[in-house]
Amino acid sequence: MTDRELMDCAQRARERSYSPYSHFRVGAALLTKSGKVYTGCNIENAAYTPTVCAERTAFFKAVSEGESEFEALAIVGGKEGKTSPFCAPCGVCRQVISEFCPPDFKILLGAPGAFRTYTLKMLLPYSFTSEDL
Ligand code: THU
Repeated sequence: MTDRELMDCAQRARERSYSPYSHFRVGAALLTKSGKVYTGCNIENAAYTPTVCAERTAFFKAVSEGESEFEALAIVGGKEGKTSPFCAPCGVCRQVISEFCPPDFKILLGAPGAFRTYTLKMLLPYSFTSEDL
């Protein structure tokens, strides 16, 4: 699976975004070390706070299926209809990623045709982890 293919998976997952309130549509694709891809989209709620981000949907699907070793995460998101989507993971999602992934974990952000590679450490420096407890 290439980085571009993982971005394409995130793009397709974005099509399933349920975001009638924000109209901000996000898709995520999480690649496991064994080569499986778990996708997720953001799922909003009329009561607002039950809303879950695309990244957490993908992680919770994977972890609940027994996965624990991850290779990379691709995120494609932006306001409905925008041609060049960009979405960086929110703080809560960064914390969830840090629970399951090492500092050098690869995160792809942007659009399938124009994306950049980051590491978890770049997006969440000085993180609080189980090591601190
Ligand atoms: N959202 C995500 O799915 N991922 C992020 O990292 C940022 C925000 C969603 C949550 C909500 O449905 C919408 O985007 C606007 O915040």
